[in-house]
Amino acid sequence: MARKKIALVGAGQIGGTMALVLAQKQLGDVVLIDIPQTEGMPKGKALDIMEGRSVMGTSCNLTGSTDYADIAGADVVIVTAGVPRKPGMSRDDLLGINCGVIKTVGEAIKNTAPNAFVIVITNPLDAMVYNMQKVTGFPSNKVIGMAGVLDSSRLACFVAMELGVSAEDVKAVVMGGHGDTMVSLYDCVSVGGIPLSRLMSKEKFDELAKRTAGAGGEIVNLLVRGSAFYSPATSAIKMAEAYLLDKKSVLTCAVKLDGEYGVKGLYCGVPCVIGANGVEKIFDLSSTMTDSEKAAFANSVEACKKNADWVDANT
Ligand code: APR
Repeated sequence: MARKKIALVGAGQIGGTMALVLAQKQLGDVVLIDIPQTEGMPKGKALDIMEGRSVMGTSCNLTGSTDYADIAGADVVIVTAGVPRKPGMSRDDLLGINCGVIKTVGEAIKNTAPNAFVIVITNPLDAMVYNMQKVTGFPSNKVIGMAGVLDSSRLACFVAMELGVSAEDVKAVVMGGHGDTMVSLYDCVSVGGIPLSRLMSKEKFDELAKRTAGAGGEIVNLLVRGSAFYSPATSAIKMAEAYLLDKKSVLTCAVKLDGEYGVKGLYCGVPCVIGANGVEKIFDLSSTMTDSEKAAFANSVEACKKNADWVDANT
């Protein structure tokens, strides 16, 4: 079987980290792409990881380039191209600049990798993945956004730290838009199979949910230059792996809703099943959500809609 080809468009902090994780997991050969102004940077990162393969025990090939033609035939394309936020900026402040970047990248993907599964990471996420699907014209099951996997992992991390347990035993669902309005579901957190309600009060959970909604900003303030990259990178690879290995993984991703949750034609984070056909199923939890969860989700959808409307009006 031929090796899979994974193209990473944007070879910055997240792109470079994803290349390393992909090589370690041996998911396929990797192409790192960036803009010509970065000169040798994508090539340098690819070569640097190549030179560590003997000690890592992996045989994947990595190349770097500033020519979009090199993503030709990619099975998966993960897009971080754009600019990250700085302290004091919200993700929405990146809307104008990153929208233009997604247009350029989307057209290149459409022309050179028409069968790719596309994962968008560039912020503001829900609007950028909406724009990507619009520009490529790919079916919506093949274009998704990475946010919920990361937000859910952040909440799971905070729950695990609070309880003093292993983070790998904590599963959580954080849905809605990737911004201040994201919604953490109390009854969807499990700790080694035990519902969180048996181990933690709703008041404590609400504190952790609030920290989760601001977790990206917390990292931005600490790093000062740039935004989070290790956990966004590993979250996106989890999604790519689900697709490449047909895992049928249940992951919260930004997907295009088609009537689920009473929303049509808009990208927003919800739990779904990812396998070889991309988004294979969307779980509609709306009938079992509490009134306050429903109201919070509606508010989050509104925030996604505002940015999607901006994309429609300006592209
Ligand atoms: N084509 C390819 N690469 C591009 C393009 C383009 N048109 N425009 C910008 N880039 C590259 C930049 O040169 C840079 O190397 O995208 C890379 C982005 O990397 P970083 O600035 O290190 O940002 P990173 O932390 O990786 O985050 C990227 O993900 O989480 C989001 O908000 C974040 O939108 C940001 C994105």
